Amino acid sequence: MKLTMTRPDDWHLHVRDNDALKYTVPFTARQFSRAIIMPNLNPPNTTTQQALAYRERIIAAIPKKNKLHSQFEPLMTLYLTDNTAAAEIETASKSSYVHAVKLYPAGATTNSDAGVTDLKKCYKVLAALQKHNMPLLVHGEVNDPAVDIFDREKVFIETVLLPARQAFPELKIVFEHITTRDAVDYVLSEDHYTAATITPQHLLYNRNALFKGGIRPHYFCLPVLKREEHRQALNVAATSGNAKFFLGTDSAPHAKNKKETACGCAGIFSAPLAIELYARAFDENNALHKLEAFASFYGADFYGLPRNTDTITLQKKDWIVPASYPFVDGPVIPLHGGETESWQLLS
Ligand code: DOR
Ligand code: ZN
Repeated sequence: MKLTMTRPDDWHLHVRDNDALKYTVPFTARQFSRAIIMPNLNPPNTTTQQALAYRERIIAAIPKKNKLHSQFEPLMTLYLTDNTAAAEIETASKSSYVHAVKLYPAGATTNSDAGVTDLKKCYKVLAALQKHNMPLLVHGEVNDPAVDIFDREKVFIETVLLPARQAFPELKIVFEHITTRDAVDYVLSEDHYTAATITPQHLLYNRNALFKGGIRPHYFCLPVLKREEHRQALNVAATSGNAKFFLGTDSAPHAKNKKETACGCAGIFSAPLAIELYARAFDENNALHKLEAFASFYGADFYGLPRNTDTITLQKKDWIVPASYPFVDGPVIPLHGGETESWQLLS
């Protein structure tokens, strides 16, 4: 069986920087036309000027064949801090290359130390985003050690998102990598200014995957995998045909030795087989006919960008995912590495 669809975009991606780019960018450029590039570098990308320089480094890592055929385009973002100036949003919106601003609650995840300590400190920036129609992308977890890690998304909705939404009713918000039924219900309860991305790992796996026969660091990401009931709610949302839910892989490579250690990094590397993972998830839901809009239409529509016009073709055919790929300072292990995948992208 074959499936031809409009070329998709990845609305949430980490490609890292410098030497890492030649290992990460080609995987995404092969499948996707565009990707929203996360700014959580060390130090973070907080200014338009930094984002434009980073964009050039990413473009230099696009293989020539993709430059010709798919014109892969990195869509840049800024990292919000307590000190971001509202004027920076004006500069960003004029640049035509910066498409959004990312909120990391301080300490919530990888390279988030410079993140926001209290969103109220950023309300002038949110006003500028609303004015310029630029989306705020949200890592939706509180970082309060007193809150159970499995409840941090739900508590974030109640304590951060609802007040911000009330203050800025026309601010475009993307609730990134949602993991719970609570997040699905919240997004459904809001109007068209709120949308959400969904990762392949949160569609395909529940938290049991983290502990199957022993601890499995390559299934650890943030927000962490949740219970089966939440996975099911995400699958219903992704395959519902509701334009508020679209594709964002959150592919986040860390070298094997940074994952397989006493304090392993959070992040799942899915870029080499991202669209195939989504095809498996939609197939398992008997919803392959809903994949194209989720992967290729709704994100572009939300960001106010044109839909892509070229296509990709997937084939239902078993293949073995490589157990590892080369990366800086040793190999990186992909999601589902060494296992059989049921869909394959034809190049
Ligand atoms: O698992 C994650 N990894 N979650 C994030 O929010 C950040 C990401 C990373 O950059 O490694
Ligand atoms: Zn991310």
